[in-house]
Amino acid sequence: MDGIQFYTVATKPNVGMEVFKRVAQATCDEPHLLATSAEDLLTRYNNGLSMLGFWEGDVVFHTCLTPLLTWFELGGTWTRADLRGKKINQAAYKRFLPGHAHRNILVTTTSIQALRVGTHFSFVVIPRTWLPPAELAATCICSAQKTGSMEPSSCTLAWREPQQRGPMTCYVRVTPETAQRMGWEANWVDRHTAA
Ligand SMILES: CC(C)(COP(=O)(O)OP(=O)(O)OC[C@H]1O[C@@H](n2cnc3c(N)ncnc32)[C@H](O)[C@@H]1OP(=O)(O)O)[C@@H](O)C(=O)NCCC(=O)NCCS
Repeated sequence: MDGIQFYTVATKPNVGMEVFKRVAQATCDEPHLLATSAEDLLTRYNNGLSMLGFWEGDVVFHTCLTPLLTWFELGGTWTRADLRGKKINQAAYKRFLPGHAHRNILVTTTSIQALRVGTHFSFVVIPRTWLPPAELAATCICSAQKTGSMEPSSCTLAWREPQQRGPMTCYVRVTPETAQRMGWEANWVDRHTAA
């Protein structure tokens, strides 16, 4: 879509708190996103870990990297509801991700649209148990109400877990650079599954 301006702290250093409040409020209302405070979003922006998109003076897109242990989680990805399906997310990732290729990045999602976007960037779907245990523990912070279990290890939403089912299945993906550093090959998932 024409006319969207994408910014990071390097290109727009002074973004007011009201922008992050707007994003925090919008993401709070989304079933596939975890709630995040405006203060946390501002911190990530100032640390060079997020990108904003503006259109006609309004913030219409956000994505950010959250530090885990040594890895990062790509999330908080949001496009204003009336502008979805216009490839804004894809345009943003094209600008944002190359600057972070040196980082190990995982991306969890229960959203079909987000899963689809990931295919354009060769994100690799992996069973979550392939993650380093400390990074897995840091990313699995959903409420017991959502996961159906008090124990993250028996989350009922995780892809490839015995309990997996339905429209809220949680897929873990890693960026292609991360997959390569983990020893990726084209038939990775099938080979590991067969073993
Ligand atoms: C996920 C989200 C950020 C995508 O933003 P967007 O700007 O609309 O994304 P894009 O237009 O770049 O791409 C969307 C893709 O999903 C596809 N899509 C849309 N609806 C779909 C559906 N019901 N089933 C499958 N694919 C679908 C689109 O066709 C497009 O893929 P394509 O380019 O291969 O055709 C947006 O839907 C959103 O803000 N959702 C609410 C918050 C959320 O769930 N975030 C992700 C949490 S991990």
